[in-house]
Amino acid sequence: MQSKVALLWCNAAATSLFLLSLRAKPPPPNFWKRYYCSSFYVAAKGTPGQPFFPYHSAMANYLITGIAGFIGSNLARTLLARGENVRGIDNFATGKRENIAEISGRLDFREADLLDLDAMRQACQGMDYVLHQAAIASVPRSVADPLGSNRANVDGTLNLLVAARDAKVKRVVFAASSSAYGDTPTLPKHEEMPANPISPYAVSKLAGELYLQSFWRVYGLETVCLRYFNIFGPRQDPNSPYSGVLARFITSMLRGEQPTIFGDGEQSRDFTYVDNAVAANLQACTTPAAQAVGRVFNIATGHQATLNQTVAVLRGITGYQGPVQYGAARAGDIKHSFADISLAQKHLGYRPSVGFEDGLKRTVAWYQEQGAPMAAQASERSR
Ligand SMILES: NC(=O)c1ccc[n+]([C@@H]2O[C@H](COP(=O)([O-])OP(=O)(O)OC[C@H]3O[C@@H](n4cnc5c(N)ncnc54)[C@H](O)[C@@H]3O)[C@@H](O)[C@H]2O)c1
Repeated sequence: MQSKVALLWCNAAATSLFLLSLRAKPPPPNFWKRYYCSSFYVAAKGTPGQPFFPYHSAMANYLITGIAGFIGSNLARTLLARGENVRGIDNFATGKRENIAEISGRLDFREADLLDLDAMRQACQGMDYVLHQAAIASVPRSVADPLGSNRANVDGTLNLLVAARDAKVKRVVFAASSSAYGDTPTLPKHEEMPANPISPYAVSKLAGELYLQSFWRVYGLETVCLRYFNIFGPRQDPNSPYSGVLARFITSMLRGEQPTIFGDGEQSRDFTYVDNAVAANLQACTTPAAQAVGRVFNIATGHQATLNQTVAVLRGITGYQGPVQYGAARAGDIKHSFADISLAQKHLGYRPSVGFEDGLKRTVAWYQEQGAPMAAQASERSR
């Protein structure tokens, strides 16, 4: 009995000291969530290494490079919604502050360049996973400035890998690109096909893949490469000449302005809604190493649509019925792109949960929410 009373006193004293220390120094963000999660985990854990609940270690530390960009900012929102800890770096080369403004209070954001090795070392400290999205992500821009693309996409990736290796992060997942396949006639594209990059951008992304695989083979740093096929969705920048084609089509059509197709419009793409790419990244982090590490996976919808067909679908969604303008085909662009996604299905459990048309509807709805008027309403007002 006496020992129980002593134990209660000890407990009360320890709790009081703990609460006093919290008054002196407020806890860091997410402290209480972590506290309760870890208490729950300890309580729920069965034998060592054999947790009773399957979802025991929900919270991990993620570094997203290129967090102010289109895909990076979507990744950040999903991770935060899951209660994970997110750190992000960006130099705003193409990313925008407004992409992360609404979540900035919940992020550890650092304005930094991939080329700054010290900053990358600090960014990687304490991270479990690195989702490497930062790049100059544009074929035409790489044609205009191959040195700039190479610096960001190759030198920058190498810096990050050195920092991740030395900080002992668990795994690095890389935003690779379907452009690595180039203009090989075989469709659908599968990962065993030889690479045949055309543009400097495609070469730089393939070099990134090779560096990731090298760091796995030589240093044992776990790496996974995800070859994205034309990702689209909310927060894709429609205002730059280098933007994704769907962001430009949708915003033009919503404004009642004619969209421009470069080429005859018969080139095809495997357009992929951004939520699918986000899910693939999260699966790539947690899939057992034997199935994922050192590999390259296609991440796409597995659906082929020409630009002319895409415009026709968008007419139905946006209400735009005006003409379409055709311009000269762009240097470095490929004719057809369509993915075999069976490897990612088999090893990562990847399933594109949002289809092409559903993704277009969601994207149009998002641009409308941002204030882009429907084509019909715009022409109504201008009458
Ligand atoms: N969007 C697609 O369809 C697609 C397809 C294939 C691959 N990818 C790859 O996915 C990644 C993300 O693409 P996105 O569409 O979100 O592009 P994005 O331009 O919106 O995002 C890239 C981000 O990286 C940042 N960045 C660029 N250089 C940097 C540097 N040196 N240091 C720090 N930050 C830097 C930019 O400011 C930007 O915020 C890129 O690596 C791209 O190559 C995208």
